[in-house]
Amino acid sequence: MSTNRRNFLKLSALAGGSIGLGLLPGASDLLAAGPKADASRVQAVKPLRILILGGTGFTGPFQVRYALSRGHKVTVFNRGKTHPGELPKEAEQLIGDRNGQLDALKGRPWDVVIDIPTTLPVWVRDVAQILKGNVERYVFISTTSVYSDNSKPGMDESGPLAQYQGADAMKETQATLRRFPLYSPLKVLSEKEAEKWFPGKTLIIRPGLIVGPGDETDRFTYWPVRLDRGGEILCPGDPKTDLVQFIDARDLAEWTIRMVEQETTGIFNALGPKSRLTMGELLDGLKTVTTSQSRFTWVDTDFLLSQTVSPWNELPVWVAPRGPEQGFSMLSNKRALKKGLTLRPIPDTAKATLEWFRKQPAERQARLRSGITPERETEVLAAWHAQKK
Ligand SMILES: NC(=O)c1ccc[n+]([C@@H]2O[C@H](COP(=O)([O-])OP(=O)(O)OC[C@H]3O[C@@H](n4cnc5c(N)ncnc54)[C@H](OP(=O)(O)O)[C@@H]3O)[C@@H](O)[C@H]2O)c1
Repeated sequence: MSTNRRNFLKLSALAGGSIGLGLLPGASDLLAAGPKADASRVQAVKPLRILILGGTGFTGPFQVRYALSRGHKVTVFNRGKTHPGELPKEAEQLIGDRNGQLDALKGRPWDVVIDIPTTLPVWVRDVAQILKGNVERYVFISTTSVYSDNSKPGMDESGPLAQYQGADAMKETQATLRRFPLYSPLKVLSEKEAEKWFPGKTLIIRPGLIVGPGDETDRFTYWPVRLDRGGEILCPGDPKTDLVQFIDARDLAEWTIRMVEQETTGIFNALGPKSRLTMGELLDGLKTVTTSQSRFTWVDTDFLLSQTVSPWNELPVWVAPRGPEQGFSMLSNKRALKKGLTLRPIPDTAKATLEWFRKQPAERQARLRSGITPERETEVLAAWHAQKK
């Protein structure tokens, strides 16, 4: 496995486990939707009883609020640790722990369960054992990191999957999960576990990089914040041909609820863009929401790699346009688009992300959790200009 892939998976795993940090995105964030998303904000035809496992971290709150706005009855199940007191009063909260304290779920009927934070297959098994017979359908939030081969562009949901190499996946715990290579294979096994307990009644959603207000990883956030700082900006690769993919947490949450309403089952990659988005177009879109004076310096892939600049980690969202990971920014989202996935304009995501970030405590804002440091950026830019001379 390449270093980039390992780093990517590590960050994905951390994102999956980054629950418990930060502030709940407010209703204003949720309502800062593009015209398409607003058009879909109408009451659903048939109100459903929806159980959301998790629901108070990054993407969950958007799901909760959107489901309520569509007239559904929402129950969340979690430990009550993340963002306490911020759940809308219309939602019911059941307290328990996926590590063995599931009593609150017993004997209650729901139309559908949406399992958001799970990586461990044992979490799916234990909850499914209790819900089976009382819940009609299971929605599992997986990840595009489940694919084992990202070398080819255009891969769809039938791509080869990461294989678990350990002794017993059901014995893996949150502690062993911190050994990052387990994130992908355990997500694969969790998908299978959901399908095993709810055969033909499972919806598996595989999001790509999830971005927007409330994202504690700063992977996308790095860019609007960097542009807002202004000055000369180190931009990776070729602005016209290097492609990028991600999904706004609000688009993901809202589409998930609409998929639930349509009683859709099956597997779907969930990420943008609608057609093609280059790194240059992304940064141009982000630039529209800042008034700072900035200058883009595009540095080619070979030079960046020769300086050991790490794609995705130091220059987030961007994947080197060749090598084993090149296909990771060219995954097929055709199935999701056909099923009504809508995607906000980039400036909308950028504005909401910046507004959220600027409300974070000063010490949080002072040190981004992803992206190249200002010192190293200056160093690489200086080396680039020197070799150009
Ligand atoms: N970030 C990305 O770029 C990305 C990309 C692809 C896929 N994904 C996947 O997308 C999902 C995103 O998750 P999210 O953080 O947005 O979900 P979320 O539902 O908004 O937040 C996580 C929830 O899990 C609860 N929780 C954590 N540990 C628990 C436990 N032991 N028992 C019961 N509840 C527990 C938390 O509440 P308490 O702490 O109060 O219990 C919180 O409500 C993850 O599955 C991740 O793997 C992420």
